[in-house]
Amino acid sequence: MASDRVVDLLRKAYADEIETVMNYQTNAIVLDGVRAEEIKESLQTDIQEELGHAEQLGQRLKQLDARPPGSAEFTARQDSLQPPEDSTDVLAVIEGVLDAEEDAIATYRDLIDAAEEANDPVTEDLAVTVLSDEEAHRTEFRGFQKEYPTE
Ligand SMILES: [Fe+2]
Ligand SMILES: [Fe+2]
Repeated sequence: MASDRVVDLLRKAYADEIETVMNYQTNAIVLDGVRAEEIKESLQTDIQEELGHAEQLGQRLKQLDARPPGSAEFTARQDSLQPPEDSTDVLAVIEGVLDAEEDAIATYRDLIDAAEEANDPVTEDLAVTVLSDEEAHRTEFRGFQKEYPTE
């Protein structure tokens, strides 16, 4: 029997990954300018990884006799990752991505703790693997952020 907390966190993480895919895709399309090119390319790569995360989380939910949420259960949370008014505002997107990655990192840390407590090493292992991807994404976007002066 899976713990309720493990299932809740897997479902939350699944929805977050799907919202991340939506916002990375939108921003990869919306951004303009020479400086945006690298960011757009990186977002495109990450979209595939985030989608892969969602799939793995969903499969794990199924193995635990649960299921991932559909859109009717969805609540949008990524306010800072909405496409910027100014389509050349690359820094706004970088900061939104960093918020999303920090949030994901916190969720996977919670999931690791919950899975350990529930004696569920398979979910714990999955959470550790995904956490390492999210930390790599954060590092990449921290690097992009360094190119922009902070006001
Ligand atoms: Fe992810
Ligand atoms: Fe990520």
